[in-house]
Order: sequence, then C-alpha cells, then structure tokens
Amino acid sequence: MTGGNKKLHVIGASETKKNRPKVLKSSDHSTHSHNQGVSTLNISRKQHNGSLYTGVGVIAISVVSWFVYQGYLETRVNSPLTEDKVAFPSSHDFPERYWGSFRPGVYFGMKSRDTHSLLAGLMWFMPDVAAAGNLNLRHLCDQGDNLEQYGWKEHDGRNFGVQVIIDKFIQLETSFVTKLGGNHGGDWTARIQVEPRMKELKGQQVTLYFYLTLDDNGKGLLQPIRMIDNMDTSGMDASESVKFLGLSAVHGHTEKLGDFRVSFHHANQQSIVHTAFLSTTVGSPHLVKDALQSGLRLMEDKRSKERHISLAGALFAKEDNLKQPNFVVHQVTGKLPLQLEIVYESNSFAERGILLRGEVYDALLQKYREQFRIQFENKFRLNEKGFSEEEQDFAKSAMSNLVGGIGYFYGSSKVQSVHNKEPVPYWNAPLYTAVPSRSFFPRGFLWDEGFHNLIISQWDREISFDIMAHWFDLMNVEGWIPREQILGSEARARVPDEFVVQRNNQGNPPTFFLVLDAMFKNRPVRDISTLELEQLNRMWPRLVSWYNWFNTSLHGSEPGTYYWRGRDTASARELNPKSLSSGLDDYPRASHPTTYERHLDLRCWITLAAKVMASIADIIGREGRKYHETFVFLSNNELLNAQHWSEKAKRYADYGLHSSNVTLRRPKSIAGQPKPDKIRWVSEEPTPRFVDDTFGYVSLFPLIVEILQPDSPQLGQLLQDLRNPNLLWTKYGLRSLSKTSPLYNKRNTEHDPPYWRGPIWINVNYLVARALHHYSVVEGPHQTRALLLYNELRENLITNVLREYRKTGYIWEQYNDANGAGQGCRPFTGWSTLILPLMSETYV
Ligand SMILES: *[C@@H]1O[C@H](CO)[C@@H](O)[C@H](O)[C@H]1NC(C)=O
Ligand SMILES: *[C@@H]1O[C@H](CO)[C@@H](O)[C@H](O)[C@H]1NC(C)=O
Repeated sequence: MTGGNKKLHVIGASETKKNRPKVLKSSDHSTHSHNQGVSTLNISRKQHNGSLYTGVGVIAISVVSWFVYQGYLETRVNSPLTEDKVAFPSSHDFPERYWGSFRPGVYFGMKSRDTHSLLAGLMWFMPDVAAAGNLNLRHLCDQGDNLEQYGWKEHDGRNFGVQVIIDKFIQLETSFVTKLGGNHGGDWTARIQVEPRMKELKGQQVTLYFYLTLDDNGKGLLQPIRMIDNMDTSGMDASESVKFLGLSAVHGHTEKLGDFRVSFHHANQQSIVHTAFLSTTVGSPHLVKDALQSGLRLMEDKRSKERHISLAGALFAKEDNLKQPNFVVHQVTGKLPLQLEIVYESNSFAERGILLRGEVYDALLQKYREQFRIQFENKFRLNEKGFSEEEQDFAKSAMSNLVGGIGYFYGSSKVQSVHNKEPVPYWNAPLYTAVPSRSFFPRGFLWDEGFHNLIISQWDREISFDIMAHWFDLMNVEGWIPREQILGSEARARVPDEFVVQRNNQGNPPTFFLVLDAMFKNRPVRDISTLELEQLNRMWPRLVSWYNWFNTSLHGSEPGTYYWRGRDTASARELNPKSLSSGLDDYPRASHPTTYERHLDLRCWITLAAKVMASIADIIGREGRKYHETFVFLSNNELLNAQHWSEKAKRYADYGLHSSNVTLRRPKSIAGQPKPDKIRWVSEEPTPRFVDDTFGYVSLFPLIVEILQPDSPQLGQLLQDLRNPNLLWTKYGLRSLSKTSPLYNKRNTEHDPPYWRGPIWINVNYLVARALHHYSVVEGPHQTRALLLYNELRENLITNVLREYRKTGYIWEQYNDANGAGQGCRPFTGWSTLILPLMSETYV
C-alpha cells in the first residue's frame, strides 16, 4: 500500500541514495545563481569603467541577493500556501464529532479534536495466563499480539461505536456514546464488557486499566478521587485499605474542556477481586505503557491473603514537589464476566439529569445502533441485494473499522527540498483523517485517503469534506502536500527516524479527485447544499495550486507526457529503480530512469484531475476553460495511443530507456571477505522504447479513468487480455503484474521482496471493476464483454475477501495471486474496504 510503507521503511538506504542526484542539481542551481552574480559584475565593470566602489557594491548586493534567494528557496518547502484555510477554524462547529475514538493506533481510546487533547485509553491482561515476567499487556494495536480478531462492528463516525476484540480466552466489547450539551463539547460514556469465550472460563480473572493523560505538552489538571467512601474497609488498617482502592473518579480541567469529571463504575461488585490506582507523571503519551508497567507491584490483600499485580498508587519522582499528575490510571481486577463503565461529564453541561450509564446507556446505544442499521441499508442496500446477514455484518464491520479508525492528529512533519541541507519542520497543524491499518499504518497517507473517502463519502459526506479540508490545509506554497503524515509523538514513536522525512519532489497520486468526482458526478447543482458549495469555493484556490503542482513539476519532455520523480538513476542493487511516489513502489518501469520517460498512470491521474477541475469550476462558477482544454487534449485517444500504445505488443505501456534483460547477480566472492550483495546486471543494452514487455496495473489506467472511446479497438484488445489467466486474471481478482512480465514476482534487491509485482490489491481492482461497469452501460461494441468481465471480477473479489475474512478474522492489505490468501498487514480496513461498494455497486 501506501507508497508501500512497509517497503518504504525497509528501503531507507535507497531513499537516501535517490536524493543524491537531486543534491547535485541543487549545487547546479547555486552555480547558476553564482554565474548570474558574476555576469552582473562584468556588466557593471564595463558600464562603470573601473569604479571599484560600485563594483564592490554590486558584488555585495549580488552575494546578498544570492543568499536571500537561497534562503527564500530553503523556506518554500515549509511555507504554507497563503490562501484561506478550508477546514472550519473551530472543531466546535462540528460538535457531534468533537469527541470520538480518534486514536486508531490503540485497541480502545477516546480523544477530542483539540491540539492538546485529554486522552483516554484501555490496557488489559489476564493474571491467570500471564507468563512469568511478561504480562502480555495489551494497549497498542499490534500484529504481534496475535489477537484472533478486533475491530469496530458498528461506528457512525459521530455518536457511537461498538467494537469486539477477541483475545484468546476472552472477548471484550468496547463501546461508547457521545452526548451533546454544555459549552465544551459535551459528554461521553464508554463501556468495557469482558466475557469468557468458553463456559469453563467463568470466574477466571482479568485486569483492566483505564487511564487518562494529556496529549503532547498539554496543560491541565487531573486530580484522582479515591474509592474510600464506597468500600467496606472494616478489618483493614487505615494505610493498607487505602493501598487497595482504585478510583471513583478523576476531576480535571483543560483550557478547551473547562472543568470535567470522569467517574468509574462496576456493574457487579461481587465479581471484583481487587482495585487500585496510579497517579504519576509521564513525559509523552507514547510512554504510558512503560509508565504503567513501572508502577506495578505485587501486593498482598490483608483480608484475603491473595497476592495481586497491582498499581502502586501515587508515584512521583523525589524532586517533583508539586505532585501534579498528568497520567492517572484506574485498575480493576475481577472475575469474568466483568464490566467497567467510564463516564465523562463536562461541568458546563448543567441540566443533563441522569448519569449516562447502566440502562440509560443501553437505551441510547440501542437507539444509535438502530439508526446506524437503517442508514446502512438505505445507503448500501445489501439486504435488498440479497446478501446474507453474515455478509452484511462483514460489510458493516469493514466500513465501521474504517470510519472508527479515523484519527485526529496534531504536530508537524519533517520535510526537505533540494534546497535544504537538513530536513526542516513543517508547520504545526491538525489532521483529521482515516488510516490504512490500525496496527501497521495508524496515521495519514495521502494516496490511501482518496480511496478511503470513496467509501466514507457514501456514508457521510460531511466527514469526507472535513477530512479533505484538513489535507488541503497541509498544502505548501508550491502546491505540494507531504504524502505520509506522522504527526505528534504517539505517531512518531512508531516510525524510525530515518523514514520520517518527506521530500517535496514526491507527490502521491491525487486520489482526492476520485472522491470529488464521485461526490459531484451526476449531481445537479440545485441538489448541492449551500454548505458544500461554500466548502468547494474555499477549496478551489487550493485545488488550483494542487493541480498546477502536478501539471508542472511532474511534466515530461513532450506535451502530454509526465513522469514520477525520485527514481534512483545510480542504483546498482535495484533490479528496477522504484517509483515510490507513484504509490505502486516496485511496479516495473523503464529499466533506466531518464528525463524523457513517460509514466502512463501519472498521465491518466492528471487527465482525471483536469476533468474534475473543469466540472467543479462549472459547479461553482469559476473559470475552468483551461482544465477543460487540458482534459480534451489528454483524453484524445490518438495522442494517447501515439504516446503510450505499443502496436507490437498490443498494449498500453510506459515509455523510456529500457532493457528487458536485467537480472540480479552475485559478484564473485573475494576469499576471506563476506559474500557480496547481488547487483544489477544488464545483459542487453537499453534502448528508447515502450516498456511493453510488462503488463499490469499501469497498463489498465486508460480503462480505469474511462477515457477510452467505447468503440476503441484498444479497449477491445485490453478487455480480451484482461480475462487471460496467463496475464492478470485469477479466481481471486486481478494480479498486479502479469505472469509473463519479466519481473513478475521478482525481488527488487536481495532483501526486498515483491510488492506490486504479483499480489492482488483491492484498490486497483475496485477501479477496474468500476470502469468495466461503466463500459457495460455505455453503448459500444465491447459492452457485452465488459459486462461479463465486470460480473465475474466482482464476484471473484467479494468471494475471496469474504472467504479469507471467515478463515482468518481479518481483511488484509493484499491477496496472494496463486491461492487468494490474505497477506501483508492486518487488519487493513483502508482501501481493502472498497469491497463494500463492490457489494453495493454504488459507483457514483
Ligand atoms: C498543463 O500544462 C500544459 C503544458 O505544460 C499546459 O499547456 C496546460 O495549459 C496546463 N493545464 C492547466 C490546466 O494548467
Ligand atoms: C533478452 O531477453 C530476450 C527475451 O527474454 C531473449 O530472447 C534474449 O535472448 C535476451 N538477450 C540477451 C542478450 O540476454
């Protein structure tokens, strides 16, 4: 996925290398500026005929202006575009979405949409099965925990969510509801219900920790209130009784939230074995698990003589006289089944009446769940289409985990342009975004986000607008948006330093144009709300800059041609230098990167973007002729064919300096030296030609963006090839690279396994299915073939993803083209969730 971050994080070395030629260019540039300085000097000498004074002055001015210019270039990469921001300034404009499960990277956590929020979160373990020295304490979504399954079953992105987590012997249901009221974003209640998975396990123990902390450098107060009042402490001496008591509440205050109170409630006092608390300071939210673990002690209950793993109470460093905690934890250890409710109340919410827990909570949650099911059926009509209950539940949970995985982040990226010697910080900014995978990629990725919002916008257009607004507000003065967003210490803690830096010559495919296209295509202007029109208007100047960035900085050597920047021209070890910014990472391109190569997928993205720009201009009454003309120019089938159709191979292809005969070989070992790494071996000189030995996802882009004329013979050929099992067709969906391509399933270096060289990816399959659907409804000679292919491909995809879900409990990053097995990371309810609109066939 995601500009292949799994890979991205492994190929750090080549990334650095890749930038070397750019650094050269940078010095080229400075040389160039220098020359200007010198020639100014020459001219001035002639004109002023030996006036040393003036000459020195001119040198000084030239030098100064060179430095000023250089300084200006250095700051461009992290200067925000000066146009008005699109996101509405205050999150309170969307009170329904002020509180939410905006921490996708933890199994369960709550957060508000503030720059320095109060954070709430859950950890748990089973004392009876904890291994010696290892509690297996659960907190961050982690593939290594090997949970059988977890994810939101229902989540509307606004009012509530219900998640099920299956962890060996227990099943946890974590749910929450939010409630508006007062002036500070309202209330919420969360419930953790833990059940044994087998009857025999009833009575076994589980320990839950629920904590509150303040986000990065957040200022505020958290004051723990002990349970003393509610417990029978007879028979315990005063100090010991205190030691074994948890919290009844936390009283707190932050600037945004005002005064609030969080209270803890247990449904069944009899099942409780032990409670305790921790109150301490922690440097940053990514350290909470460590802080909690170092606050654990083995304690003996004076009454029962049982020993418990327990939080140790108030723990402060000696030098910390203030004893102001910013990390407060309530512990409950109890027998299964166990329930804990956490009630957050804003003090400004005066007339709320009854506490939102117990039956009151049940009733409100039921109401929201009911609404959710009705809305889900209204939008996707899976029941009407004849899907079984179980299939509908699968689809609901896929979408819910996507929507429930929306996070709210705050911080700054590290960025670098060719003009910067060192990476520089981007400005601090918030980002409201979905994430590709809660375990492996719990942060924002630009090109994934367009795919996510093809689904989210069908569920809730307002959420999609809000997400896009946040992304567009991250645009710099050049019209560039950093493609991976690692904002805040919680996100940063999960990415090694060397992979953090984002480079401004690399822009991911502009997939938000897919979203805007889907949202407004076939929608008459009179049906568009004034709020949406206003938002489109605010977005417009940023869309213009964004489009312009693609159209100019990725332009090729001839009109109508484009190529992805950032390929390593000097690579000695890569079988085929990657184009990470294309999103397709190791998908084979021309073997020898040049400035005259042509990338078909990029050209098609820019064609689509021009079309959408023209239609948005129409909707909001802006000048769109330029975009329309560019679209007409780029969608001209004759030009497309001239630049990208290989008559020899009868397929669409990239063009460039290419050799089909490139392999990895191991150089001869020198005695006594370690075995050398394999290197790239070119056995036939490259020539300028189509990269037409390769057939795969890139070859399908003219189909994907639906610019082929319905009667195009090329379309006919493409459709015929699509069904060929020796090429892309499998029972499980279309593989990314044909079996006949020289690099099919080949490693890019010895250490770098194939990624977009065979596996089945749901995002591209979705786009192809959608295009087939399109060509099955527009009249033309290939209509019937398109329909047959559409039906079969859709069926294959749905069947396989469902089958793997049943088998493994997860939706996956990609699927194996030989046997359909899910692979890569999990759960991947990012673009693999596009299986939902394939089921519902809602393509507009
Ligand atoms: C895109 O770039 C081409 C040439 O580089 C130019 O002719 C065209 O007008 C540009 N399109 C837009 C919409 O700016
Ligand atoms: C290059 O590859 C082609 C096709 O695989 C093969 O026919 C040809 O012999 C190869 N040439 C060399 C020099 O290896």
